[in-house]
Amino acid sequence: MSGPAQWSNHLRLTARLYEPLWRGRSIGVLTGGSYSTERELEAMIERLALPVPSTVIDLGCSAGLYARRLAALGHDVVGVDVSRAFLVEGERLAADEGVAVHFVHADVHALPFPDASFDAAVCGGSLNEFADAPRALREAARVLRPGAPLWLMYVGRAEGAFGRVPQVLLRASGLRFPRAVDVAAWCSDAGLTGERSVRRGPLVLASYRKGSGLAPVAASSPAAAWDGPTPLRNRRFNWERHGSRDPQR
Ligand SMILES: C[S@@+](CC[C@H](N)C(=O)[O-])C[C@H]1O[C@@H](n2cnc3c(N)ncnc32)[C@H](O)[C@@H]1O
Repeated sequence: MSGPAQWSNHLRLTARLYEPLWRGRSIGVLTGGSYSTERELEAMIERLALPVPSTVIDLGCSAGLYARRLAALGHDVVGVDVSRAFLVEGERLAADEGVAVHFVHADVHALPFPDASFDAAVCGGSLNEFADAPRALREAARVLRPGAPLWLMYVGRAEGAFGRVPQVLLRASGLRFPRAVDVAAWCSDAGLTGERSVRRGPLVLASYRKGSGLAPVAASSPAAAWDGPTPLRNRRFNWERHGSRDPQR
């Protein structure tokens, strides 16, 4: 079901105001100030651990917050969105910042790319808007090379009534708030192995890898630059680390 959340994405005004008024502050607002957009970006980069240059797809990129940061690091980034207004805004911001992002008008449920064509995928907040998240995750897995990482940030289902009530109301606007266990199951069905999932307030910051969890030998990625396979003792998931004392991401 789509609703006002999806329709409003097609307005130029929404696209223009989204980053300065909401995206740049949303992480702080949603976590009561305990986390920030900058930390989110750093965590994404750290968890992807990509050699430069790698080919990266940003799924539901909006104005390309992730895509532009990754492009600034030297990666070859494709940003995909159904909203032309957001893609135009992304091009404007990328030009302002002097970075090159390939913005593509496409639906994440049917990506116009061959199998195994990307070294990594990122998806910031968009899972909450996709009409069929399991299908979008299968498409993400399809276009990833074996061993390539996927970074996901989304608002997970609230556990208490206090958070659940607004989420139920927001469903009417077309937003969905999946449980982290359901996202994990969808990823597993798509052939993505969970590496790490951390909860910060209602936010879930999770990383997966296509296939067995081993780092890839990617066409555009010199194998020597990749970390070795994750040691077995580090492979266990740490889903839902509520109140983790881990000072890092
Ligand atoms: C919450 S915004 C995501 C923001 C962006 N990823 C970021 O980190 O700033 C959701 C975006 O997903 C896009 N979107 C929703 N459904 C989509 C679909 N089926 N295919 C591609 N993009 C989609 C919307 O147009 C919107 O720009």
